[in-house]
Amino acid sequence: MNRVLIKDALTNTPAPAQVAVAGWVRTVRISKGGFSFITLNDGSCLASIQVVADKKLPNYEAEIVRLAAGSSVVVRGELVQSRGKGQAVEIQAAEVRVIGACDAERYPIQPKRHSFEFLRTQAHLRPRTNTFGAVARVRNEMCRAIHEFFQSRGFVYVHTPIITASDCEGAGQLFRVTTLEPGKADFAQDFFGRPTNLTVSGQLEAEAYACALGKVYTFGPTFRAEDSNTPRHLAEFWMVEPEMAFCDLKGDADLAEEFLKFIFKAVLDRCREDMEFFHKWVDKTVIDTLAAVAESDFVRLSYTEAVEILGKAERQWEFPPAWGSELQTEHERFLTEQTFRKPVIVTDFPAAIKPFYMRLNDEQPAGRETAAAMDVLVPRIGEIIGGSQREERLEVLAERMTAAGINPDDYWWYLDLRRYGSVPHAGFGLGLERTVQFVTGMANIRDVIPFPRTPRSAEY
Ligand code: 4AD
Ligand code: MG
Repeated sequence: MNRVLIKDALTNTPAPAQVAVAGWVRTVRISKGGFSFITLNDGSCLASIQVVADKKLPNYEAEIVRLAAGSSVVVRGELVQSRGKGQAVEIQAAEVRVIGACDAERYPIQPKRHSFEFLRTQAHLRPRTNTFGAVARVRNEMCRAIHEFFQSRGFVYVHTPIITASDCEGAGQLFRVTTLEPGKADFAQDFFGRPTNLTVSGQLEAEAYACALGKVYTFGPTFRAEDSNTPRHLAEFWMVEPEMAFCDLKGDADLAEEFLKFIFKAVLDRCREDMEFFHKWVDKTVIDTLAAVAESDFVRLSYTEAVEILGKAERQWEFPPAWGSELQTEHERFLTEQTFRKPVIVTDFPAAIKPFYMRLNDEQPAGRETAAAMDVLVPRIGEIIGGSQREERLEVLAERMTAAGINPDDYWWYLDLRRYGSVPHAGFGLGLERTVQFVTGMANIRDVIPFPRTPRSAEY
């Protein structure tokens, strides 16, 4: 008999049918009436299915009444309308086959609420809990929506390299890739014959493809050796990076807004059960916020205006806002949570605090040069997207590189894009995990990626 997913069994119109399901036991309740109730979960949805096992089953005494949470079983039987409360259908078992026993004494996942801190120490088993199953399913739907969004708009999916010799953000937060013995720094002898690192962003290579195919996106893991132990930083995270030729900052911001709304609507439409779970157990505002954001116009303002607003705010800052300084998370959250109460796109940051590739704005007062940069800020998270129009003028770009201490010769191929048929182009990067956090209400970024990588933590 073909195995069905529990998700499909539960939504079956309860015409009696023979089914087989397979999964992990959540609970077993032995009834005095001579049968047992097993709740079985297979991860296809949040809900478990109830299995009714009669004592007439041949392995009833030997196996079924001894089943512990965590055991794996295959159940064959009839899908019938449930007589109990809480579920529409249940399975009247004709066979309960135990596949893998589970030692109830030692199994770390007990049928109770565990703290997220504890579950981080059980990252291999936590997907069997309601919360982490729901996070995995929502993350999956978001990835599907991301591809749908770009594919339906003519973007070409490009795979940019993981190992690279460039440092896109110029921040030096690189994980070195080497086959040399520790202590030997003669990169001429190294595998690639030069220093290489894990990529911090696929942008530079995406630009090459955008300047040939028009609209592209890359979506992959990126790596940053920044020693930030915060609820919003990972050393390995996933980034979605669209890049568009013949596009300016306004077009970039329009795409970012449309893109986020598309993802949020998709999750609301397709992950109802999981989202209701997050609403009930994790954050009571999460569904309303998503629905409101999916319908609202994002606020757009310049960095200069943002700093003025922050300067007038009557509150204590850890970092007092000042023109020329980075916007800190406290500033970002103030703008999006207090001032505007919706997503905010801040544009035109001081050029001095932004990477070399961002386009210098035209005609600016000396000492107040800005770049055509944008950050999208959302409540609870702060920056979720960073992007810009790219510097398409060869001389300006080469100067910016030199000023940033980068040798333009190392980026000869990137400069070629400006030598041969240069075009205005723009793009952005969306941090997938921060977006999953925003959507689910999960407070810590370590709980929205299966196996988090953070400073001094790379178990599994
Ligand atoms: O603002 P960032 O550094 O921008 C870039 O890397 C550009 N090259 C993107 C582009 O224009 N193609 O990073 C983009 C986003 C941030 O807004 C944030 O959501 C996420 O990536 N991000 C991180 N997420 C988790 N952990 C970290 N350490 C992150 N650093 C950035
Ligand atoms: Mg940024």
